[in-house]
This record gives sequence, structure tokens and C-alpha cells, in this order.
Amino acid sequence: MSLRDPIEILGERFIAAMRAAFGETLPQNADPLIAASRNPEFGDFQSNAAMPLGKALGMPPREVAQRIIEHLDLSGLAEPIDPKSGVAGPGFINVRLQGDALAQLLDAMDEPELGVTPPAPEDRQTVVVDLCGVNLAKQMHVGHIRATVIGDALARLFECLGHHVIRQNHFGDWGLPIAMVTAFVRLEHEADRIDLQTMTLDDLDAIYRRAQAEATPDQRGLDAARKFDLGPKAIAELEEQVAGAEEARLRGRNTLIALQSGDETVVRIWQRIADVTLAECMRTCAQLHANVTEEFTAGESTYRGELAGVVEDLLARGVAEESRGAVIVRLDDAGIAEPLLIRKSDGGFLYATTDLAGVRRRVQKLGGDRLVYAVDARQSLHFRQVFAAATKAGYATKADGRIARLEHAAFGTILGEDGRPFKTRSGENIKLSNLLEEAVERAERAVGEKNPDLSDDERRRVAEAVGIGAIKYADLSNDRVKDYVFSFDRLLAFEGDTGPYLQYALVRVKSILRNAQEKFGIDPATLVRPSESQRGADRPTIRIVEPAEKTLALELLRHASAIASAAEALEPHRLCSHLYSLATAFSGFFQTCPVLQAPDETTRHSRLRLSALTGRAMESGLVTLGIQPLDRM
Ligand code: ARG
Repeated sequence: MSLRDPIEILGERFIAAMRAAFGETLPQNADPLIAASRNPEFGDFQSNAAMPLGKALGMPPREVAQRIIEHLDLSGLAEPIDPKSGVAGPGFINVRLQGDALAQLLDAMDEPELGVTPPAPEDRQTVVVDLCGVNLAKQMHVGHIRATVIGDALARLFECLGHHVIRQNHFGDWGLPIAMVTAFVRLEHEADRIDLQTMTLDDLDAIYRRAQAEATPDQRGLDAARKFDLGPKAIAELEEQVAGAEEARLRGRNTLIALQSGDETVVRIWQRIADVTLAECMRTCAQLHANVTEEFTAGESTYRGELAGVVEDLLARGVAEESRGAVIVRLDDAGIAEPLLIRKSDGGFLYATTDLAGVRRRVQKLGGDRLVYAVDARQSLHFRQVFAAATKAGYATKADGRIARLEHAAFGTILGEDGRPFKTRSGENIKLSNLLEEAVERAERAVGEKNPDLSDDERRRVAEAVGIGAIKYADLSNDRVKDYVFSFDRLLAFEGDTGPYLQYALVRVKSILRNAQEKFGIDPATLVRPSESQRGADRPTIRIVEPAEKTLALELLRHASAIASAAEALEPHRLCSHLYSLATAFSGFFQTCPVLQAPDETTRHSRLRLSALTGRAMESGLVTLGIQPLDRM
């Protein structure tokens, strides 16, 4: 029996039985509908096939179930089922796997890949993951956790499955607001109020806001002041502000033109702002243990030379049209009422124009078969429009004619404990690096209490992994599209569905294996990480006897499919919930099935192998989520 998910193997046996029972009359699309049992008392899995089949065949479902059972061959896999008493409720068929069969499946899984088989060369995909997406001159704030952490986890999932992954940090470094900051920095620099060499991202963040405010005319204020006659002084001030805003916008537009035409001074200042922003962003990504580095940065500015061409191309091919001086792509045929604006009437390009060029580059230059965008759900309409327009334009079509999958892995908002978007008390965005530092500090206190024996260095190292891991796990374990409430107390708890709990579960497994070596001289190498040469070599036999062993075995056997389904659905939380169930199953196993104190050597060895396999699955799962595994904590 090669390693496959029991659900898959059962599915094949059931389909064979259904064919044998109903022959030609079996509908083409008949599905064995195998699912894990909700209640282990009834069995491990159940087939729900009889209900829809009964309908299709015009036969009572219980009778259908009985006919299936009569033709069902479960030898070497599950307990035989009695056709009379084996049908439950309206027509469920419950299946109980045999311990030996589970042991064999686990034995096959106990290889370095843990049952995750690499795709055949023709099935290997290039997956382009859009992640992080910070903006020039702005601090990373709490919203960027999600784009970074979810994007990185998705990238890791595809890497784990053997696909070719290209990360793209769509750095927002181009456009009018960017030019306005650049213009502002230039003025500050010329007035000697800022030193380009020493300016920090905090300085830039403040300047960004001032530049925005300066360029936003308070027309309403002025109108009100006039209407209610607030006095000449107030009116004069507001008039000045409105005129100033006009001037700032003009300065911004001129600076954008200067940037576009490569004006040396302006470009040098802009480049410096970009460098400061990116350096800080990369530091935060490293702090987050996210694999997002300089080399993955493909800023909006890298598309600047392509935008005019995109618009011309789409106009020439009739995909886009002019409308009141602007250029739009109508998307009614794709069921989207709002047309996509790709060039403003003043000739300026938009965020969407860049994303269209992005799809083209990612599919046609980088060879993407699947483009995944880890971006806030509030941009859903934008991505639906961009995907529809890109598809219409043929930008999603690869050289060989295949069409790439374009997907928005949309995520919800992080909320504070008051249920409102997470902000500081004074309503400011929370700076991501501060939040991460606080997580590590809190973790350090918790770790120190839990294990006072750790050296200062070690405590700090552990706290780093625990604090950051806790934040990431909270972000990943929630259903991606939903909002979630950020609570330090909850996410740092050592009990429950948290990062620290999972890291701790792994630490426990490792400590059992260390003890096994100390007390019984069992070389963990024979248990933990079989090398190529040890594959298939003599390893102790796995035996699945106790209910808790069975529960653990069943969860372990879900490992590969949990990873595959998390990647397919772009839902890291599926892997989280598998790891949590695995940790819980292990804890149940450990409580009821003594490992080192097992009654005999065969049992001890079997349980040690189960423990080692659990440890490896936990470890690979955590790494795939981007969470650091630990040896001690
Ligand atoms: N910079 C954008 C923002 O802050 C996110 C970029 C997302 N990626 C993309 N290809 N549009 O909203």
C-alpha cells in the first residue's frame, strides 16, 4: 500500500463497489462522498453516497447502502461491514479502519517528505505571490502584518508542495502622492531642515502626512467660514490654505513629471526615500521571520515605462475605450457593472493600470501559472476588475495558450478589543515594529515564568520565536477573509489554539525523544529523520492498538492533504487546524499511552516512532506556516 490519504483509498474501494452494484445505471458523476466521522463511536470514516444515489436511481437509500456494502471489499484496510446492521440512519455507511492498515499507512508516511509528494514535472506550477505591499514614506502598520504573514505562508505552502514560487512585493513607490512627498522632502532639504543621509522612516511618515494635509484644500471650511462670517482673519487663513493646497498639488504634478523624465535631483531624493522605506520594511519582515527580502521587491515604479503602452495596446485592440477624455475598460460581459479606469482625463495612470501591467509581467515574463494576491479584502472590487480586464486583454494567457489562474487571497481587518479597527488610544495606526517588540517582551515574561532555568540568552531567543510566532499564528489560524480581534492575552496563551501551545507541544515531543536516548540509548536518528540510506531499513514496527493511538494515527495521515488543501484553497488556517488537532491528539495519546514507561519494548518502540513522526509533522507544519520550531522553551 503506497502512502495516500485513507479518504482517497476508501473512495476507490467504494467506487469499485458502486460500479459492481449498479453497473451501467451508476451515474457518471457518482461520488463515494467519504468524510471523517463526526463521532468516533460510529467509526473513523463514513460514506454518504447512498442518499444522492438513491435519489438518482429511484431507490430507497438504505437499500442502496446495503447493495454497496455487499460489493465492498475492505480487506487489508478496514473492519468488514455487515450488510444488514452496517447501514446507519438514512443510509450512512460507517467504516472503521484496522490498526494494521493504519500502521502500514504511517510506515509509508514516515519518510522525509511526510507523504507530500512532489508534483510530476508537467504539473509543477509557477506561483507568483503578491505580498507585503508597503508604501513609500510610510511606516508598516498593523494592516501590513496580514499581507506579509499570509502571503509568506501561502508562498511556503506552495514551496512545500514542490512548486516554483516567485514572491513579489508590490511596493507603492510611484504616483502623485509619492511625488508630493518627494517635493516636500526636496523643499525641506533645500531649506536645510532635513538631512537626506540621516532621515528616518519616522521622519518620512510625518512628512507624508504633512504633504497630504497641505495638498488637501479645506474648501468646506472656507465655505463655512464665509457663510457664518467667522471673521476676516479666519477667512484669510483658510483662503491661504486653499491656495496653498492648489500650489502643493501643482508642485506634486510637476515633480511627478520631473520623476518621469528622470530629472537627476528629483530622482536622487525619491531614490533615497525609497531606500529608507525599504530598509526599514525589510528589517520588519526579518523581525517577522517572513521570507521577504530586497530581491522580491518589484515596486510600482518598475512598471512606469509600460503603462502608456498598456493603455495604447488596449485601445488599439478595442479592449479599452475613451470616455469623456478618460480611458476605461468596460466589464459588463464579466458581470462587473463598474468599468475599470486605466487613464485619467489628465493623462495620469492609476493603481489599476499598474496592476494590469503586473498581471502581464507575472504571466508572460515570469511564467506564472497561478497569481495569488495577499491583499486586504477592501480591494476586492479592484482585483475583480483587474483580473477581468487582464483576462479580456489576453494578459493572463501564457505563451503556450494556457490561461493563468488569478486569485485574490483577500483578508479581513485586525480589530482591537473594542471591535473597531486596531489603533492606538489616540487613534493612530499602530506601528508594526512596536507591536512586535511588545509581543516579544510579553513572551519573555511568560517564558521566564514557565521555565526559570533558561539562561538569559536562551530566554530571549525563545521569547523571540514565541512572541512573533504567537502573532503570526493568530493571524493565520483565523479564517482569512474574516476580521479578527487582536488580543495579546489570548494569542500568547500556552493553552488553546495558539502559537505557543503548538510550539510547546513540539517541545514536549522532543523532550520525550531526548529522554529515550538518555534512558534507553535509542538513537533518535532511527526514529526522527530517516536519511536516504535508512529508508526502508529496519525500523521498529508501528502498532496501532489503543483508541488514542488510532486518533493520533488518523490525524497524522491527514498531514499531506491538510497542506495540499490549504494551498489549493489559499487558506493557511486549514494547516493550523490540522496542527492543533495533531497537538491535541498527541496530548491525548501521551496521557493514556505511556511511551517511555510502556509495558514492553515493542510497544515502547512503536510509541516512540509515533512520537517522532508527530514531532516531524509538527515541525514541518510550523515551518510551512513561517513559525519557528523550538527545541526547548
Ligand atoms: N500598496 C498597496 C496598498 O497599500 C498594496 C499593494 C497590493 N498589491 C497589488 N498588486 N496591488 O494598498
